[in-house]
Amino acid sequence: MRFAVLASGGGSNLQVILDRIHDGALPAECVFVASNNSHAGALERARVARIPAHHISSKTEGSEEAATAKLLALLEKNSCSLLVLAGYMKKVPVPVLQHLRNRVVNIHPGLLPAFGGVGHYGEKVHEAVEKRGCQFTGVTIHMVNEEYDEGQIVLQRTVPVPTGANAMAIGRLVLKKEHDSYWRVLKAFAEGDIVPTESTNPSQAVRINPEWLKSIRALDGPSLQ
Ligand code: GRF
Repeated sequence: MRFAVLASGGGSNLQVILDRIHDGALPAECVFVASNNSHAGALERARVARIPAHHISSKTEGSEEAATAKLLALLEKNSCSLLVLAGYMKKVPVPVLQHLRNRVVNIHPGLLPAFGGVGHYGEKVHEAVEKRGCQFTGVTIHMVNEEYDEGQIVLQRTVPVPTGANAMAIGRLVLKKEHDSYWRVLKAFAEGDIVPTESTNPSQAVRINPEWLKSIRALDGPSLQ
């Protein structure tokens, strides 16, 4: 499976994915990493791993349309079958979503749909979880479509919130769970446990093997199976 990654930030999720490829646990190839942010740690991590790293933005390309065209050209040239968003802070352009229909996946540091949508990103999610006194938060990995945070959910894993934990502490726990989750979902794509469909119905973007889901839920304890 050949995939590309879009990331805007530090890239710790990208790093774990690259590490799992390196140690043989994830049978897939990351063909390039692109970022709208020239200072993204994710670009540096890609360079260290000798993966082509591209800074693509309306500034570098002259316009949003040109930036989209550049990304599309890279996806086509590299025969990407999956686009992985790992801390990407921009909306994916519609022509890219059309080109890779049901083949764009995102990780969200909270439980959707409750902690999603406009304004619910990064630290904001953890602040909301702290403010409401939530006893559980979690990770959601979902397919991406034109509506923000609304694509089909592929995997959710919960994270108990320790009594009195602040947003920063909650964020650390969630990130740890993210690191244990994203590569497993990519492995499932690579091994056919998650299969993109051609459906235009957002709730049928992918077919998920229930046995695979069971095996992931078993990681979090028997009560979740
Ligand atoms: C993660 O919390 C992810 O869920 C969110 O952005 C953050 C990216 O972290 N979408 P990193 O850049 O992978 O360290």
